[in-house]
Amino acid sequence: MADLSTAFGGLRLPNPVIAASCEYTMTEPGILACIDAGAGAVVAKSINESPAAAKQLDIADYLLLDQDLHAVPWTSAHGTETLFNRSGLAQTTLEEWVAMLERCQRHASATGSAVIGSVTVASAEGAARLAAAMAEVVPAIEVNVGAPHGREAAAVRQITEAEGVAHYTRTVRAAIDCPLIVKLPGQAGDIVGMARAAAGNGADAVCLTGRFNGFVPNLDTWDPELGSWGAIGGPWALPISLYWISKCFGTVPALIGTNGARDGLDVARFLLSGAQAVEMASLLLSNGAAALARTISQLDAYLDQHGVTRLDEVIGAAVRRAKEYHEIDPIVPPVRPWLDN
Ligand SMILES: Cc1cc2nc3c(=O)[nH]c(=O)nc-3n(C[C@H](O)[C@H](O)[C@H](O)COP(=O)(O)O)c2cc1C
Repeated sequence: MADLSTAFGGLRLPNPVIAASCEYTMTEPGILACIDAGAGAVVAKSINESPAAAKQLDIADYLLLDQDLHAVPWTSAHGTETLFNRSGLAQTTLEEWVAMLERCQRHASATGSAVIGSVTVASAEGAARLAAAMAEVVPAIEVNVGAPHGREAAAVRQITEAEGVAHYTRTVRAAIDCPLIVKLPGQAGDIVGMARAAAGNGADAVCLTGRFNGFVPNLDTWDPELGSWGAIGGPWALPISLYWISKCFGTVPALIGTNGARDGLDVARFLLSGAQAVEMASLLLSNGAAALARTISQLDAYLDQHGVTRLDEVIGAAVRRAKEYHEIDPIVPPVRPWLDN
């Protein structure tokens, strides 16, 4: 069995499979279930200082879609569906939230796992204040500056340029001493520049990438699914997330992958692309915490098959083998597979 442990910013996790911030990690039973399933860490559902962001949860709605963009019942989810939704933030007082995180972290400590407090940003000052309060009881903080809902709801902000990332990171960094993860959007111009701005202003790890904004008309009713725009992600997003992870590999102290991983082999793909850990939400929501345990076993079996003893041996291995276009020799005869049809 390979040593699955991974570390960033002084935080050591027993394995790289992290339960991502989402509605499943919004409650104490949900967080504890992820810890008991063996998650390397659990990122709690995000909070922010705006009551409107929490109120947003009152209009949250969730749809699983198959490959043809038809709705799939949640009871028959395979875990490979596309998840289209509106979401809001946790509805609780800061005091109650911190007390809940503290109880969960006590449980996590017993297994070497960790609970990570999360803010999806409104103002930088608000994020810093909430991060400082949570950092009293948890060993790390994640700040999401890239929530897709920021394009639709005024209560959260989506930052899409390096200067803004620098400002939010610097402000939160000044308020906390523990490891800081900054989570960036998937829809932005210079994501590598944004990752550098986060690292240059005190982030210990950068999480890439947030999900995308989507719009899905129903062909029978002509209504948009969910009646609005929403956030969307699926297995199809994986190569895009891997692209940005691979492009940021080596430029920041540590990378955490998210958006598109659905099993242990996808986690291996993230590691090979340069991530040190992987955050998973959709699989957790559609198939429950037991799916995290299966993911860890599958990763373990994959690494065994390849004779890997430590994660360092795989992290970034595929990036080191990647060639720039200009390094590739002409292919003779030229590749024309469509002529075979
Ligand atoms: C319903 C839902 C709610 C989410 N809420 C949050 C959140 O509060 N904070 C956050 O940083 N990310 C949030 N996310 C993003 C996830 O943490 C994760 O990064 C994203 O879903 C991509 O991973 P996946 O492909 O495994 O779903 C949410 C995702 C979903 C699907």
